[in-house]
Amino acid sequence: MDEKEILSYIDEVNLLLKRAYVPYSKFPVAALLIDNNGKKHKGVNVENASFGLTLCAERNAITTAVTQGMKKIRLLIVTGNTLEPISPCGACRQVIREFSDKDTVIILANRDGKYKIASIEELLPYSFGAEDL
Ligand code: THU
Repeated sequence: MDEKEILSYIDEVNLLLKRAYVPYSKFPVAALLIDNNGKKHKGVNVENASFGLTLCAERNAITTAVTQGMKKIRLLIVTGNTLEPISPCGACRQVIREFSDKDTVIILANRDGKYKIASIEELLPYSFGAEDL
């Protein structure tokens, strides 16, 4: 994947930030993923007056993708209104891990197009997975 392609995905996911439902935190997050079939899926964070029911953007994108037949994440891009590239929460890292393999590329970005590329192993080292059961 070249720089131009990365930046165009980041532009696309940044456009999605306006759909985030964030009346409480005012902290929009958006995620875009490409699955093992090359299909694109999107998610935003959706908050609730009962705060604990808040859904993170990454997990929304992943559950939507699974509903549409995704087996593995090929590429996941997450963005937020942060100074530095956003850092996914621990719960999302574990869920990303469930649908990642060694080829999964994760791009953490921000509203200004600043980004960093990471693997799931870097985001969640020594993690728990199906093979541990
Ligand atoms: N949030 C996400 O959507 N993803 C993350 O990885 C970090 C946190 C959301 C949850 C909540 O709506 C807001 O950001 C502030 O925590």
